Amino acid sequence: MKVLVIVAHPNLEESRANRSFMHELSKHEEITVVNLYQKYPDWSIDIEQEQALLLKYDRIVFQFPFYWYSCPPLLKKWFDDVLTYGWAFGSQGDKLKGKEFIIATTAGGTEREFRAGGDNWFTISEYFRPIQATLWKCNGSFLPIFVTYNADAGLDEYISSEARKYVEHIQSSHNAMIK
Ligand SMILES: Cc1cc2nc3c(=O)[nH]c(=O)nc-3n(C[C@H](O)[C@H](O)[C@H](O)COP(=O)(O)O)c2cc1C
Repeated sequence: MKVLVIVAHPNLEESRANRSFMHELSKHEEITVVNLYQKYPDWSIDIEQEQALLLKYDRIVFQFPFYWYSCPPLLKKWFDDVLTYGWAFGSQGDKLKGKEFIIATTAGGTEREFRAGGDNWFTISEYFRPIQATLWKCNGSFLPIFVTYNADAGLDEYISSEARKYVEHIQSSHNAMIK
């Protein structure tokens, strides 16, 4: 399966977790990685190029650090710019129909904190509802998310093992729900 990974990290130089994930991805020829902040330092997204790229892949992964209960802002802009009416959604907008999408994120918080009554109140899945709804609106399938908790405090061995699990996840996940 041809997999496209769109990485959105505003500060990759100081990243540990997402860099480790990218290192693991680089071992797999069949996975194409786009580094969004490097590609668009001026935030001027080439919509036609991004749309043409999406057409070539069956599975698209969005990888990013969890920032303020959401994704980093350039990825939000990418959604706003690239998922256009008449192309991605609307009566004629069927170009993403049947494509599979996966969110992969790293969070500073622990899994215990992301629950009802915990320090972060809700599960990460709940925080991703707007993105899930966006991709459903674009007729895509939303596959199980991959989350690495405790990404700042976790030991290097933990991060490396998460990186391996991440790549396995994006290669082997399947759609549990027929839409
Ligand atoms: C601006 C900013 C906002 C953040 N917001 C959250 C948050 O809402 N929840 C959380 O668990 N971690 C949060 N973090 C921690 C990051 O998710 C964490 O540092 C990152 O996932 C580690 O990955 P990296 O090593 O690739 O940078 C935030 C970090 C920054 C810099």
